[in-house]
Amino acid sequence: MNPSRYTDMQYRRCGRSGVLLPALSLGFWHNFGRITPEEQSRAIVRAAFDAGITHFDLANNYGPDPGAAEQRLGKFLHDDFAAHRDELFIATKAAYDMWDGPYGSWASRKHLMASLDQSLHRLQLDYVDLFYCHRYDPESPLEETLQTLVDIVRQGKALYVGLSRWPLEASRFGYAYLRQRDVPCLIYQGRLNIFDQAPKTEGTLQAAAEAGVGFIAFSPLAQGLLTDRYLNGIPADSRMAHDPRFLKADALTPETLARIRSLNDLAAARGETLASMALAWILHHKEVTSVIIGASSPEQLRTNLACLQTPPFTDDELSIING
Ligand SMILES: NC(=O)c1ccc[n+]([C@@H]2O[C@H](COP(=O)([O-])OP(=O)(O)OC[C@H]3O[C@@H](n4cnc5c(N)ncnc54)[C@H](OP(=O)(O)O)[C@@H]3O)[C@@H](O)[C@H]2O)c1
Repeated sequence: MNPSRYTDMQYRRCGRSGVLLPALSLGFWHNFGRITPEEQSRAIVRAAFDAGITHFDLANNYGPDPGAAEQRLGKFLHDDFAAHRDELFIATKAAYDMWDGPYGSWASRKHLMASLDQSLHRLQLDYVDLFYCHRYDPESPLEETLQTLVDIVRQGKALYVGLSRWPLEASRFGYAYLRQRDVPCLIYQGRLNIFDQAPKTEGTLQAAAEAGVGFIAFSPLAQGLLTDRYLNGIPADSRMAHDPRFLKADALTPETLARIRSLNDLAAARGETLASMALAWILHHKEVTSVIIGASSPEQLRTNLACLQTPPFTDDELSIING
């Protein structure tokens, strides 16, 4: 184990909370299910821990198959990290499709409570550090969903709660509801990357900051597009080739490829990789607490740590990046 892991990583305060999160967190959406060898997943988690990445981001449905990522991390926690539980900040979520029937999805009290119990069982944990409502449910009353989050904290099954992918007004309502009940929302999770700047344009990034809520960015590399992965075709071991559930080849249009090439040139001129520049660009927003990276190998994860050492952006560079 790397003894300097906590001095190598930067930790940032999450909103107006007592929690510090690493600038880079590890996501378990891909690379922790049935189609990835278990020892490869284990090596990624060990590399993350060794780099001072203390925050792991999961959800009930991460796999394949749904539940597999939690099950795998549960095994690693038991085998490798039993003595380190209190050094880790583990998040899970519910609200996407998980089991059959009317209670297997969305954000009713019934779904959220049952799903969290299942997650704790798979993770072999008594509590998670953070539990999210994974998406906004337009049909369940917001009060029912939010009160369930309050009750989950009061029951000790999660230390903090968060909202993911909620639209602006619903998230503002949620922040106020939770704060009034002394269970302030810890963090908002939204997609933010050079290709998708919706949290900036739609206001969720600013709204979180104003409410004292942290912001954590998912898919910071646009699932791998914002790297050198696809500059010369589609490699057989890439997400697009071997696990195209969410990243399909038609995402690689000539226009997108041209934009990737010009961003790659800019990164090279700055003396870094495109992946590093794409991560550093997110982290230069002061409202961002952390960036959740995916990695299919320990080497990718280690390479991406370079984003913590890159030069500041000039105004000219920012205007090229913002297109
Ligand atoms: N709240 C939500 O609804 C939501 C939705 C999506 C994701 N998330 C969270 O965000 C996490 C990250 O999402 P993501 O996996 O889409 O993140 P990402 O960082 O945008 O993409 C990760 C992928 O990019 C490629 N990559 C990473 N570093 C690379 C490098 N240095 N060079 C070349 N390729 C590199 C790898 O793909 P290859 O397989 O091609 O190597 C890797 O698996 C998820 O695990 C999950 O925890 C949350």
